[in-house]
Amino acid sequence: MGSKRYLKGRFNKDVTDEMREFIDSTGIDKDMVYEDIWGNEAHLLMLVSVGSIEKCYAREMLNCLQIAKEDIRGNKFELDPTLEDVHLNVESYIIRNCGIEYGGKLHIARSRNDQVVTDVKLRLREEILEVMDSVMGLQNVLLKLASKTVDTIMPGFTHLQHAQPITLGFWATAYVSMLMRDLERLEALYSRVNRSPLGAAALAGTSFKIDRNITAKLMGFDSVHVHALDTVSSRDFVVETFSVLSILMSNLSRMAEDLILWSSREFDFISLPEGYTTGSSIMPQKKNPDAAEMVRGKTGRVYGALMQSLSILKGLPLGYNRDLQEDRSLLWNSLKTTRMSLDVMGGMLSEAEFNKKKMEDVVDESFAAATELANHLVKVNKMSFRESHQVIGDVVSKLADEGKTLRDIDETFALLKKEIDGSIPLNELKKLVDSKRVVEANSSLGGTSPKEVGRMVSSLKSGVKGYRKSVWKKRDKIAKAKELTESEVMDILVNK
Ligand code: ARG
Repeated sequence: MGSKRYLKGRFNKDVTDEMREFIDSTGIDKDMVYEDIWGNEAHLLMLVSVGSIEKCYAREMLNCLQIAKEDIRGNKFELDPTLEDVHLNVESYIIRNCGIEYGGKLHIARSRNDQVVTDVKLRLREEILEVMDSVMGLQNVLLKLASKTVDTIMPGFTHLQHAQPITLGFWATAYVSMLMRDLERLEALYSRVNRSPLGAAALAGTSFKIDRNITAKLMGFDSVHVHALDTVSSRDFVVETFSVLSILMSNLSRMAEDLILWSSREFDFISLPEGYTTGSSIMPQKKNPDAAEMVRGKTGRVYGALMQSLSILKGLPLGYNRDLQEDRSLLWNSLKTTRMSLDVMGGMLSEAEFNKKKMEDVVDESFAAATELANHLVKVNKMSFRESHQVIGDVVSKLADEGKTLRDIDETFALLKKEIDGSIPLNELKKLVDSKRVVEANSSLGGTSPKEVGRMVSSLKSGVKGYRKSVWKKRDKIAKAKELTESEVMDILVNK
């Protein structure tokens, strides 16, 4: 059994049902119907404006497209899988409704090869802006947390061992700073995505008179992707999307891992909100950090898409190849996964409760002030850093053997006295091992001091503001282009 061919061309036999199902992209293309229609409108308006098609033909088709949009809204326009993809579905709708003598003219000077990449880019650019919104949403939650916790002491880790005291505000701003580069990458990605493919046709351009700048303007693209063969063959913008999303997810996954560790009994730094945790079917006491675990888990999905997209491209000869169709479900899926991960992290963090006492106690019980003590010997006792490192190392080793820490002042003082002639007065020593003072002392650019963290909070806030403005401008440009297309369509429909 076979399905009727829409493009009969040279064929005498129909494709088999199995083959039709195998190559069908209508299932995933249904999310690009409006984009496809916009491309059709821009194409027709351009053909009229350069004189490649008479207005009366364009009017019929543009009118049909208006009805098509109503049908889509009323769920009366379903994509027919026997028509392979969204492009043939829209074209056949017009031919059915306007007749072949009108609708048959729609496909001059273009190909599905430039159409598909146009539709993908129109949809992708909006998705990128939504991801940027979600990044900024999470950054705002972190910045709010940071403003309130610039002096909430906690241990900073290297190798997951207590390293030096930091603050919760310092931790939160670290992630905001990381996410800033994700915004930078998303913005750069957007600029490479927002170039118009339409008019490249199948691979070689066209002998019809066209103006690619007109279609680019009508669809709000920043420029034209000029080389026709490059345009239809390349999907580096897709790989770049996965790469940008993968890096973003790796940042989120690390944050998720911090929260998972912190919510364990052993750390006990955080109590995750009930809305973002689940219980166990057997152990009544359990409160599992599922949301954070799923962010970590779903990161693998996005990495997978990156590998899959690179593998699809690797052996492709130049030109359009049907293999490229495989990118779409990966794209929409990865974008949604990333957006949801960002939103879930933001929601979870905004309701989480931090066990500030535990965080500070843990620092007090540790040797986290050791570096600052060693620094002091260099600054005041004119020791070389290697010597002071050794002196404090010996003190730490002896205290640790007795189950004590630097906070056990008398013992520390006695040991230091032995090592360096007692030249740190006791009250100064008390200050030196005080975690709040240690945190304050690191006042270098980008350091832990509450003043410096406060400064970073304001500078990061203004950075986020800048990206908000940039997203707003991009959306505005898209909206204005839509209005321009609509008004030019109306001109043709109304001014007979
Ligand atoms: N459905 C195709 C895709 O998604 C559209 C382009 C098809 N072009 C072609 N020459 N068969 O990539």
